[in-house]
Amino acid sequence: MTAKAADLQSLERDLSARIAAASDDASLEAIRVEALGKQGSVSALMKTLGSMSPDERKQFGPKLNALKESVSEAILAKKAAFAEAALEAQLKSEALDVTLPPVRPRVGTIHPVSQVMEELARIFGEMGFTVEEGPDIETDFNNFTALNFPSKHPAREMHDTFFMNATDEAGARKVLRTHTSPVQVRTMLKQKPPIRMICMGRTYRCDSDSTHTPMFHQIEGLVIDETSSMADLKSVLIAAIKAYFEVDDVRLRFRPHHFPFTEPSAEVDVGCDRSGGQIRIGAGADWLEILGSGMVHPNVLRNCGIDPEKYQGYAFGMGIDRLAMLKYGMNDLRAFFDADVRWLKHYGFSPYLLPGLAAGVG
Ligand code: DAH
Repeated sequence: MTAKAADLQSLERDLSARIAAASDDASLEAIRVEALGKQGSVSALMKTLGSMSPDERKQFGPKLNALKESVSEAILAKKAAFAEAALEAQLKSEALDVTLPPVRPRVGTIHPVSQVMEELARIFGEMGFTVEEGPDIETDFNNFTALNFPSKHPAREMHDTFFMNATDEAGARKVLRTHTSPVQVRTMLKQKPPIRMICMGRTYRCDSDSTHTPMFHQIEGLVIDETSSMADLKSVLIAAIKAYFEVDDVRLRFRPHHFPFTEPSAEVDVGCDRSGGQIRIGAGADWLEILGSGMVHPNVLRNCGIDPEKYQGYAFGMGIDRLAMLKYGMNDLRAFFDADVRWLKHYGFSPYLLPGLAAGVG
């Protein structure tokens, strides 16, 4: 074997060992430049071909070409192996376990009052009621006069009602509405019967203890058409209260009462059990007052431009905060409005479980 052939063999061994040992693309590229680049060891040998005798060239040329080819093939093969390993590693790092449960972002909780409003909107919505709104600052006419309150009625006195300094067009001081009933007036003034609506919102009275706050929430209901009767009022309220408390044997007691805006009027009590210091709706021999109701007074219809000879209907009003306390077991109303995040975490509801046909009402 000629010296050149021996050189060639050792160069081939050396290069293939180094290619095999290369650990990344960069070191592979360095080997390629060292061997096959312009100044590379294989290229240098190629240059010697010109000065060889024809015999030498015949013997040496093909070997050199074969070396060049096998080195570049080995480098390409190694590069392909690196690329495959990199892809493998990337796929592994991006692997998704699609069998894991979805991760829900934390977005706080829904306040019990909002939750109950949502429940009531669904319940009455399914019974064909639309939802109306009115402002917190009301005229004396909408809050009292149109609702047939006599001018000397105690609710008009300073210790019950928050009066604003501003006066309305009639020169009367505006009020923070003391109930949601003025929305009855607003609805009748803007819409002809048939009317079938509820309204929910904030109401205000000068009052504060563990079951009263100066601001609280009410729901109002109003149905006006040519035939609706006390019997319809009863069946709607019984169905709504059963759906709300999710108890089948809810008992309601309609007790004669007086409101200026209804005649006849009834307060409604729900059957409960008070033993053990807790109120349980459904079972037991006790009663708890939860709402006021009645047939809309002809004077109210007249005040709102509706002919009482042709139209009649019923109305009802309930405290939303009280309904929330009874269903979800809170006993101090003041905590509702403290904005204490620990209380909200404990009593709040998941925004992902808003009431509806699929999730159930509560
Ligand atoms: N507005 C009354 C209150 O705040 C509740 C009420 C009673 C509303 C009878 C009504 C009703 O619509 O018919 O005490």
